[in-house]
Formats: sequence, structure tokens, C-alpha cells
Amino acid sequence: MSAAVTSETRARRGDTQAEPREHAQTPVPASDQQSKDVAIRLEKVALGYDSDTIQQGLSFAIRRGDVFIIMGGSGCGKSTVMRALTGLLAPRQGRVLLQDQSLWEVSEAARTQILRGVGVMYQSGALWSSMTLEENITLPLEQYTRLSRQQIGELAEYKLALVGLAGFGGYYPGQISGGMRKRVGVARAMALDPDILFFDEPSAGLDPLSARRLDDLILELRDSLGTTMVVITHDLDSIFLIGDDAVFLDAETRTMLTTGNPKHLRDHSEIAEVRAFLRRGEA
Ligand SMILES: Nc1ncnc2c1ncn2[C@@H]1O[C@H](COP(=O)(O)OP(=O)(O)OP(=O)(O)O)[C@@H](O)[C@H]1O
Ligand SMILES: [Mg+2]
Repeated sequence: MSAAVTSETRARRGDTQAEPREHAQTPVPASDQQSKDVAIRLEKVALGYDSDTIQQGLSFAIRRGDVFIIMGGSGCGKSTVMRALTGLLAPRQGRVLLQDQSLWEVSEAARTQILRGVGVMYQSGALWSSMTLEENITLPLEQYTRLSRQQIGELAEYKLALVGLAGFGGYYPGQISGGMRKRVGVARAMALDPDILFFDEPSAGLDPLSARRLDDLILELRDSLGTTMVVITHDLDSIFLIGDDAVFLDAETRTMLTTGNPKHLRDHSEIAEVRAFLRRGEA
């Protein structure tokens, strides 16, 4: 199996100009126009822990305002990639650019500043159980802004309303359903008005209806606020419903196999593994 990236992203956009079927992973030159449209860019990124390389040769761009899916089998390194994009794990090689700034080639203070524009909802999604929903959301606002208590309270109410939980600020996490807790996780990730939101397996553990509501929420937020969303998920319904674009990571070759719109990849990918994944094993 070749580890080269195919040109499916371009094909999706109807860019039919002749080009090799598989092209090298060299990044597209960042002209001003292109950088304006790109929220995140990876350039030949390699990631690992201790002596293990988990993923390498990662070069792809995440367009501003897209819902971008990171997909691939269990243990292929999806959460690891998210760690590199959210400031938790430095790459071994290559560059990660967030809003055109190289995340790992700046001072820690500058990195913290860049990451202020990023909200993260972790796989565990843990809320602080001894705090009310409102307090869960106000904590980052108290830590990172100089707003007054009243302004912070109003903002928290607004964020809860955005995720469909107006009036629930006084509840504790233990008093609401799993689906509602996930929504609070989204509201908390949005507390500081991030330009980019990351979700690690947002629908894991939710019943199908709650999972669908969370997907609808992600689309609403993208459409109303223009937030760029990076979502790790295995859930095929979700992938096809919300994904504008995607990257497929492979555990065996330890690199990306392709990028592109998920439905386009399902119907047209030249790579058997990718088709099999997106067609529930029926390649
Ligand atoms: N902190 C760590 N130290 C060492 N190895 C790690 C660490 N975190 C993850 N790994 C290893 O890196 C590999 C990729 O893990 P990662 O959690 O990124 O995969 P994933 O695609 O998110 O998996 P899943 O779908 O199960 O969530 C696994 O082999 C895992 O054991
Ligand atoms: Mg994971």
C-alpha cells in the first residue's frame, strides 16, 4: 500500500485539472489568499511517544469554517494528532500552523496566546461535578478574562442558551443527562469564543437521538458563528452528516492515507481500506 496522499480533496471540489493520481505530501504553497482560508496547516508532521512513532508524514490543511473529521481505526493516533494541534504534544518533525502561526516554534507565552483561540472538548468530557453548570463555564472566563462578575454570569448564560440549556445554570452535572452534559462540555469549550473547536469522540456513549442532536448543534455553531470544528469520531452517520472534509489515518503504515469529503471518499476513494472503513467493511 502506498502511503502517498491521493488527490481526493481536489476532486471533490471539481478541480479537474490534470494532475498525478497520487501526489507527494508537499504542502500547497501558502499564498495570501490560501492562508486566509486555512485555519490549521500541518507540514510533514511526525508524532510519537518515547521510542514509538505513532504517525508521520502528515501534511494537510483544515479550511476555516469547515467541520473537519479525523478518522481511522482504534489506536491509529487520532487523539495524538489532536494533542499536537491543541498544544499538548510537540511534534518530532514538521510544523503545525494555527492561524498561520507556527505553534511549536514560538515561545511558550506566544503558544499560550495562540491557544486562547482554541476550545477543546476532551474524550472524557469531564465536568467538575461539585460545581454548577454555570460555574463550570465561568471558571475559564474568570481565569483568562478581566470581565466583571456580572458580565461573566451573563456570558455563561448565553453559552448555555447556545447549546440549548437556557435556565439550567444552577444544576449540577449529576442532575442532568449524559447528552446534556456533553452540551455543557461544548458550552465550556466555547467559553472564550474560540475560532477553532476540537471534539474528541463527542457522541461516544450517547443514544442515537442525543448523538444526532449533538451533530445538529455542531452544524448550527459552524453556520451561526463560523467556528472551525475539528471532530474525531468513528460514528459513520455522524461523519457523513457533519463532515465537510476529513483525513484518514492508518495504524499499519502510520501515516495518512488520504484526505477529502467523507461521502466522496466513501463513493470514490481508490484506497480499499478507506472504502471499507466508510462502508462498514463492505469494500
Ligand atoms: N501518553 C502516551 N504515552 C505512550 N503511548 C501513548 C500515549 N498515548 C497514546 N499512546 C499510544 O499511541 C497510539 C495512538 O493512541 P491514540 O490515543 O492517539 O489513538 P486513537 O486513534 O485516538 O485511538 P482510539 O480510537 O482508541 O481513541 C496507541 O498505540 C497508544 O497506545
Ligand atoms: Mg482517541
